[in-house]
Order: sequence, then structure tokens, then C-alpha cells
Amino acid sequence: MQTLTVQLKERSYPIHIGSGLLGRADLLMPHLPHKRAALVTNTTVAPLYLEQLHTALQSHGVKVIDIILKDGEQYKNAETLGQIYSALLAHRCERTTPLIALGGGVIGDMTGYAAATYLRGVPFIQIPTTLLAQVDSSVGGKTGINHPLGKNMIGAFYQPQVVLADIDTLNTLPDEELYAGLAEIIKYGLIRDLPFFEWLEQNMERLLARDAEALQYAIARSCKNKAEVVGADERESGERALLNLGHTFGHAIENGMGYGAVLHGQAVAIGTMMAADLSQRLGWISAEDVARIRKLFGRANLPDEGPPSLAPELYLQLMGLDKKVEGGKIRFVLLKAIGHAVVSGEVPEELLRQTLVACTK
Ligand code: NAD
Ligand code: GLY
Repeated sequence: MQTLTVQLKERSYPIHIGSGLLGRADLLMPHLPHKRAALVTNTTVAPLYLEQLHTALQSHGVKVIDIILKDGEQYKNAETLGQIYSALLAHRCERTTPLIALGGGVIGDMTGYAAATYLRGVPFIQIPTTLLAQVDSSVGGKTGINHPLGKNMIGAFYQPQVVLADIDTLNTLPDEELYAGLAEIIKYGLIRDLPFFEWLEQNMERLLARDAEALQYAIARSCKNKAEVVGADERESGERALLNLGHTFGHAIENGMGYGAVLHGQAVAIGTMMAADLSQRLGWISAEDVARIRKLFGRANLPDEGPPSLAPELYLQLMGLDKKVEGGKIRFVLLKAIGHAVVSGEVPEELLRQTLVACTK
């Protein structure tokens, strides 16, 4: 097991990464002083991992209330959030009762937001079970739900007390979901870690084969990158915005196609290729750089072109609603080089339109 720390003064917390961690309730016990917790998961993850976690917690005398939600990005909304609140109230959960999120990013984001708001804030524990959640969404405290008008538009920064990433859970993950997680892993290489990007070029096949050692390395390296960025800029007033590479385009795709139609990681991959194309049009990176990025996404079985049914006009409209808009200008995360991203609000609309046309099938 490896343990990293997100350094946020009194709100610092550990990220434990390794094999067999669902059985390591001892790692959670410092955060369960009253031996009571509410566990939020979904109908896919519950039959796979709930019993194992229950057994571990019960052996330490912890009483657990289960809240099992429908599975899917389309349920990451106010109605489902209301179901969490109702269950917490019905079971008389108190301010000291931690919420445990067991699942992917959808469960983690929703549970975190419920924890941030129920009784004005209760403790929160992340147990991510997708690759994407282990390398990204469980770390850093962004929590929230979607709105019909925009992705992740309602939410709060609310840090967990501990993150427990059991890499064994990745063995049951569908291939497409593994690939989706690889998109966020490649992101760290692109924005700030060229040696990691090169490592991914060398080791992509090992990751696709779910080689435990390679997965452990990639997850820990991703979490190290994310922890450094979040530790320096928790509330996204600067550097943290770089973690949104590909997301402005990607969120428009997710919203425009209907939540759940395109996986978040797939939308991020397409959005990242759009950001790379735009960076080339601005003269910042070369055609060889773009081809190199495209090749790595291709090897990770990720799409690199937007859906034909989404017209440039629709992107422009949807991106105008993104959280990254400031003073009416869309702020894009773009590449100055592989391993070096920047935020820019100065993108000529003509170049943006050219990118949208060029990167759509
Ligand atoms: P997800 O939560 O929908 O999980 C993907 C699918 O895998 C689901 O069907 C889920 O039930 C299933 N699943 C989960 N664990 C499994 C396992 N071990 N075995 C088999 N199936 C399993 O999707 P995701 O990719 O984990 O997360 C995407 C969400 O995360 C999006 O809503 C996105 O906005 C959010 N996100 C948040 C942040 C953040 O910083 N908070 C960062 C990135 C993404
Ligand atoms: N996924 C973007 C962030 O955590 O800031």
C-alpha cells in the first residue's frame, strides 16, 4: 500500500492506494469515532463490493446504513440527491455520522455534496471503485450534481477525510470504463508531467492488461499530481484550472448528447484533442505533438473526434454556460507543449470554429 497526503493544513488527508484495501477498515476507524456511518453506493457496485466492506466495518463494531441509488450519470441530479437526504433524515443520521461514498465519480460527487450540505456538513469518506475516480474525482474535494443546463453546475468544495483506493476493484470494471479513466491519467502527463506522459507511452499495454503494478504506479503518480495542484490552489483561483484540460469542450459534449450518452472520460479525450488542435492553430504546439497525443489516446481506445450530431454553434452555446467563463469570455486550457498547459481567454473565434469543424467526424 502507498499513502499520499493532500496538504491542506487542518483539512489535510491521506490517500491510501493498494490491493485488498476494502478489507482494511482499520484505515477508516480514526474517522468513525461513533462507530456509525451511512454508506452511499449504486445498484451495480453494491452486489460487487458492499458485503466485503460491511464485513470489514462490522468486525470493528461499526453500524452501517446503506443508501443504494440507481446507476448512471443521468441520475447525478437534484432528485437523487434528495433521496440521499431523505434516507439520512429517516435514519436520524447526526452531524457526527460520516457519509461513505463507495463507487465511481458519480457516487463520489453526489455523496460529497450531500455530506457538504446535510446538517450543514458531516464527515465524508471516499472509497473510489473506478479508475477515473481513483485518479481524479475522489481527490480534491469537488462535489456536486448536474443541472439540465450544465454539467456539475451545482456543488461545493468539500474535502474528504480519507480516500481508500483498492485497485482490486478495477478487475470488475468494464473495459470502456477503464479506458475512460485512462483519459484523466493522460491529462496529468499533458498538463504538467512530461516524464509521466513518456511512461504512459511505454506502458499503455500493461495498463490495458490491468497489470496491478502498472495500475498502482499510474494511480499513485496521478494522485501525486492532483494532490500537488489541489494543495497549491484548492478553490481553483489559478493552477487548478489546468486540471480542466479538455473539460470545456467535454462538458459541452456530455450535456449536448444527454448525460450518460458519452462517458465523461471519453468526452474529456475528445475535448483534449480539440484543445490540442486549437493549441496547434495558435502556433503553440506542432502537428507532430498533436499526432503524438492522438496516438496515445488511440492506444487507450479513446475517441478523438466529436459526435457528428453536435454542431459548432451548439458547442459555442453550451460552452458559454461553462463554469470556466469569466467576464463573458470562455477560458480554455491549452497546451504550450506536451507537459505544459496554460489557461487562455484570448482565443480568436475563427480558430475555435475551425477546431470544432476539424475535430468533428
Ligand atoms: P461512474 O461513477 O458513472 O462509474 C462508471 C460505471 O462503472 C458505473 O456504471 C458504475 O456503477 C460502474 N462501476 C463503478 N465501480 C465499478 C467496479 N469496480 N466494477 C464494475 N463496475 C463499476 O463514472 P466515473 O467515470 O467513475 O465518474 C464520472 C463522474 O465523475 C462524472 O460525473 C464526472 O463529472 C465526475 N468527475 C468529478 C471529478 C471531481 O473532481 N470531483 C473529476 C473527474 C470526474
Ligand atoms: N477534475 C478537475 C478538478 O478536480 O479540479
